[in-house]
Amino acid sequence: MNKLIIAIDGFAATGKSTQAKRLAKALDYTYVDTGAMYRAVTFFALEQEPKGSVDLKLLCRSLDQIKIHFEGSAGKQQTFLNGVNVSQAIRDPKINEYVSKVAAQEAVRSFLSKQQKALGADKGIVMDGRDIGTVVFPLAECKFFLTATPEVRAKRRHQEQLQAGLQESYDEVLSSVKDRDNQDTNRAFAPLIKAEDAVEIDVSDLTINEVFELLYAQVQKRIN
Ligand code: CDP
Repeated sequence: MNKLIIAIDGFAATGKSTQAKRLAKALDYTYVDTGAMYRAVTFFALEQEPKGSVDLKLLCRSLDQIKIHFEGSAGKQQTFLNGVNVSQAIRDPKINEYVSKVAAQEAVRSFLSKQQKALGADKGIVMDGRDIGTVVFPLAECKFFLTATPEVRAKRRHQEQLQAGLQESYDEVLSSVKDRDNQDTNRAFAPLIKAEDAVEIDVSDLTINEVFELLYAQVQKRIN
């Protein structure tokens, strides 16, 4: 069967990963969470700096010390940094605070996008992020751009964080989500922007299943 590259981009906490995982499972494709890669690099940067901040220059000089890999299938994928499972650690609010600054570095982006391109070389892949349809796979057969109001997204992320035992308030989550959107949209390299040929979906008033049905129908159209 005709294997595709499916790119899902969009704002923070729009449910990109949830949808990407479901699509990958339904199609028996590989799933790649590029946000987890930027988060893992941010984790590395925070470990590098004993003062609990990041030294962007030092980080950019140290990229050759970073090895990221994934294990497990779409539903239960785990992220490893230099052989250590960091899947939980990279969801910490401290990572949210720094990840967009790290992701704005040209050296970091070129380091990771090279690896992302290689992961998609054989197609049959669902990749979610911010620049997948624009920079990593501008020729992807199927592109989506997910949006929702900041309040809906913050509510969703706040719920997820509570379930994971994290203590941020709704207001803190809302401000962190808005702040990241702002940084991601306004950076010089590979900013968050809808690819011209991406299908835009506002998920504010849709259930997870409804969004999935919309995405799946579009994918089937491309496959046939
Ligand atoms: O899950 P959520 O939408 O909160 O974020 P994520 O997908 O885990 O991405 C975390 C951060 O990584 C984003 O806010 C971006 O700064 C950066 N990122 C990026 O710049 N490019 C990508 N392809 C993926 C993530």
